[in-house]
Amino acid sequence: MARTQRYLSGVQPSGMLHLGNYFGAIRSHVENQDNAFYFIADYHALTTTRDPEVLRKLVFDAAASYLALGLDPERAVFFRQSDVPEVTELTWLLMTTTGMGLLERAHSFKDKKAKGISATMGLFSYPVLMASDILIYDSDVVPVGKDQVQHLEMTRDMAQSFNAYYGEVFVLPKFELGTPELVPGLDGEKMSKSYGNTIPIFTQGKALKKLVMSIETDSTPLEAPKDPDTCTAFALYSLFASSDEIAEMRENYTGGGYGYGHAKMALLEKIRTQFGEAYERMAEYEKNPDLVYDVLADGAARARAVARGVLDRARAACGL
Ligand code: ADP
Ligand code: TRP
Repeated sequence: MARTQRYLSGVQPSGMLHLGNYFGAIRSHVENQDNAFYFIADYHALTTTRDPEVLRKLVFDAAASYLALGLDPERAVFFRQSDVPEVTELTWLLMTTTGMGLLERAHSFKDKKAKGISATMGLFSYPVLMASDILIYDSDVVPVGKDQVQHLEMTRDMAQSFNAYYGEVFVLPKFELGTPELVPGLDGEKMSKSYGNTIPIFTQGKALKKLVMSIETDSTPLEAPKDPDTCTAFALYSLFASSDEIAEMRENYTGGGYGYGHAKMALLEKIRTQFGEAYERMAEYEKNPDLVYDVLADGAARARAVARGVLDRARAACGL
């Protein structure tokens, strides 16, 4: 009998998860958690974060956010990358069979270098660590955003070269592109923390209201009909609303007498309802961080057992 497909994905602990992250990644992770492995990529984060206190906080925030948003550690194995140090040993084994040329072609390395970010060996070998993350759990499917597709292709290349030297050691993973939905930010451009246009998931109360009210809209007067298809408030509302609700708001827009302020209030209400329980759970984790750390420790033990088996297979294959 074929074994159940194993899903795996890594999350960069990069602070202040926003609605773009939620609809672009987190939601599908949470919907797809049976037989899944999800981890917080803190070894990877060391290529960009050099403050230990900041890193610890980012890891906690990312883990607590995922749990608050519905990741269920009974269903998925949820852990911190660095709690499975076997992954760094496998990274070394993979490096010995990976061509420099493959890594030199990586977009993310070329982009960062072009922006003048000093290129450490860690940044250069980022894709090898990522391949190791995937291969060490015999992962079958990796749900990722478009920006990660090249890394997945590289992972397959690395697995194939290792297998070509040493036999069928690694499972070749497939990638699965998430919903292509692009969530717009306050200014209508792609929501992204690097553009400073985000609505963070855990911003609440007056601060949330202020953000929602600051969504850019045009100056069509209240009475006039409005075009929902060019309006950011409508686009964001549509992510939360049912098809009936969307149709109703569409009619309000085209009918006139309905202002952008009304649409923003409706959006605010939706955000609060959608994330109300998550706010409460997040407050609980902030009061009692060990709830989060215990989950990560338990996940690490489960992940590590799998990693050990695959690493031993790879070590034996290459004569260690
Ligand atoms: P940011 O652009 O804020 O730095 P990241 O690059 O860290 O976000 O993205 C983490 C995940 O969230 C990725 O899977 C990415 O595809 C998804 N994501 C980020 N922003 C958006 C967006 N505006 N719309 C859809 N998905 C997004
Ligand atoms: N590089 C991914 C990102 O920036 C995070 C990541 C690390 C990852 N290891 C992974 C994703 C393994 C999928 C599988 O989003």
